[in-house]
Amino acid sequence: MEIVRIHTEEAIKQRGEVFTPTALVNEMLDKLKNCGCKVFTNKNQTVLDNSCGNGQFLFHVLERRLANGISHRDALDTIYGIELDQKNAEECRQRLLMGSSDPELKDIVNHHIICADALNPRHKGWNKVGYMWELPIENNFFEWAAAKPPKMGWKDYRKKRLAARR
Ligand SMILES: C[S@@+](CC[C@H](N)C(=O)[O-])C[C@H]1O[C@@H](n2cnc3c(N)ncnc32)[C@H](O)[C@@H]1O
Repeated sequence: MEIVRIHTEEAIKQRGEVFTPTALVNEMLDKLKNCGCKVFTNKNQTVLDNSCGNGQFLFHVLERRLANGISHRDALDTIYGIELDQKNAEECRQRLLMGSSDPELKDIVNHHIICADALNPRHKGWNKVGYMWELPIENNFFEWAAAKPPKMGWKDYRKKRLAARR
């Protein structure tokens, strides 16, 4: 189901808030699959959207995992998102729960979908879980990262993240 969101001018200007349409998300995920990416069939592969909005990428990765027979719990266990806006982060959590009220699933999404600034380790959103969940970057913890903060390429993001850890 396509969630249509009217983005306010302020949200677009301040946070670059424009969500990727479902058709485009699916086109990109199909390309990943065609490149041999196993993220939809291997529950152990971790996925991060560091500016996840309302979870367009994460939700469609989850859907594909479920379609491949991975349980909801296992599928969620390796899906992570960061989002600056509280309302978007909560919408993302709800989408990933898919109507479930299972407390275990709620715990996972509350821990994995963080309302914080992805580029600022001192942002209060990181207080509970630690910046980027305190996992060493050297471990290549996230096998797949979708999207990016607005006006920033992957290299800038990685540079900032490395700098923040020094
Ligand atoms: C272009 S939208 C993309 C959302 C989603 N990835 C998608 O493709 O539909 C960018 C999102 O990043 C969020 N954002 C902007 N700067 C951020 C930051 N520094 N840390 C975390 N989220 C950020 C915005 O609030 C917005 O929801």
